[in-house]
Amino acid sequence: MLDTALLKEFQQPFLLSTDMIKHIAVQFRKAMYDGLCGKTSPLKMLPSFLAAPTGQEKGAYMALDFGGTNIRALLVELYGNGHYAVIRQRHTPLKTSSYDYTADSVSAEELFDFIASEIGQIAPAVTLSLGHTFSFPSYQTDINNAKLITWTKELKTTGVENANITQLLSEALIRRGLAHIRPAAVINDTAGTLLTAAYSNPAADIGSICGTGHNTAYLEPWYHSTPMIINMESGNFDKLPLTIFDAKLDTNSEKPGQQLLEKSVSGRYLGELLRLIINAMIKNGLLPAIEAKRLNIPDAVTTKDLSLLMADSVIDLTTVLTLYERTSLQQIAALLQKRSAQLTAATFYGILCHIDPKLERRHHIAIDGSLYEKMPGYAQTIQATLTDLCGKSMTSLSTGLIKNGSGIGAAIAAAMAKK
Ligand code: BGC
Repeated sequence: MLDTALLKEFQQPFLLSTDMIKHIAVQFRKAMYDGLCGKTSPLKMLPSFLAAPTGQEKGAYMALDFGGTNIRALLVELYGNGHYAVIRQRHTPLKTSSYDYTADSVSAEELFDFIASEIGQIAPAVTLSLGHTFSFPSYQTDINNAKLITWTKELKTTGVENANITQLLSEALIRRGLAHIRPAAVINDTAGTLLTAAYSNPAADIGSICGTGHNTAYLEPWYHSTPMIINMESGNFDKLPLTIFDAKLDTNSEKPGQQLLEKSVSGRYLGELLRLIINAMIKNGLLPAIEAKRLNIPDAVTTKDLSLLMADSVIDLTTVLTLYERTSLQQIAALLQKRSAQLTAATFYGILCHIDPKLERRHHIAIDGSLYEKMPGYAQTIQATLTDLCGKSMTSLSTGLIKNGSGIGAAIAAAMAKK
């Protein structure tokens, strides 16, 4: 028989009240301010050297989208005012059963040679500018030069941290006989998402990724007195009410102490959090010792499993667990998902309060990523939390999915660099 009091003890630390969410938003806004002033802050507040597009960006561009799971090479034609066509594209995983370009045994040159050969598969034989979406915290000195500060999302490839990403790519393109493909802009995927949304919608001023990783960029109206898209690297925000499970996950991770918001909200980690909780529930007699061997392996539970569990589609479980046990597991999975969406919404509210304290203007938050797109209820929870926080002003705020914005955004950035 299920011990409901004990089950509640597991659930309680994951519940966030409106006051707690507001408090997180206030802390987030303060961290933005500190980061912008050069004070110590968990938010890196990295300038992109790009403002919003005019909508007049046009022409053919190569784009490379490097997010950590796949490489996507694209040939894009921009027509202006939000219109574009993907002429060719190629999608390749960075890790399969026969190779792994994310491992520390692989060098920067090997990784970028692989990337260049992927670009070579679809690049035409004419000179073209290339926009590169590189979805990791990078310090930029201009629109086309970025240094990787630190790997996130558990990537480990050697020799990339502290290196100039554009130089690594340019050299690899030359080695592959692709000198006619010329890197012209490097951006974060959050900036790409924002650029793609703003290409057709001038109210778009926040771009976010809720997928394998998590991060948000926004259009700072007054960055050294000019508008500038800022990559906040908000996944590193750390003023959060974390649980013992978050702490355990962090200790076992590649970079303990870093990316605490990302570790509690993103797809790379939600499955692992669930695995740690299931193991503790088994220990406390709330669940039978099912699949004990598999559950001892880190990352054995994925965010996809979490979604399947919530939809009651894990066939095996219906035979080995009672209805009560399945329901208790589903409740935990739902709480993890809800907390993720609520924390994300809290950061959005913090940004809105920074750029427009009285919420007088129209704002659009463009979001991409598998959690936002595919996890049932996720987008709705973000929306509901924002409605709760913004009250009446919610009428001037919209949120929406922008698919593949990071790749298209790279082409838009390359066009903006031309000017
Ligand atoms: C990276 C960000 C990126 C986000 C989403 C995080 O791990 O640090 O730069 O925007 O993932 O891909």
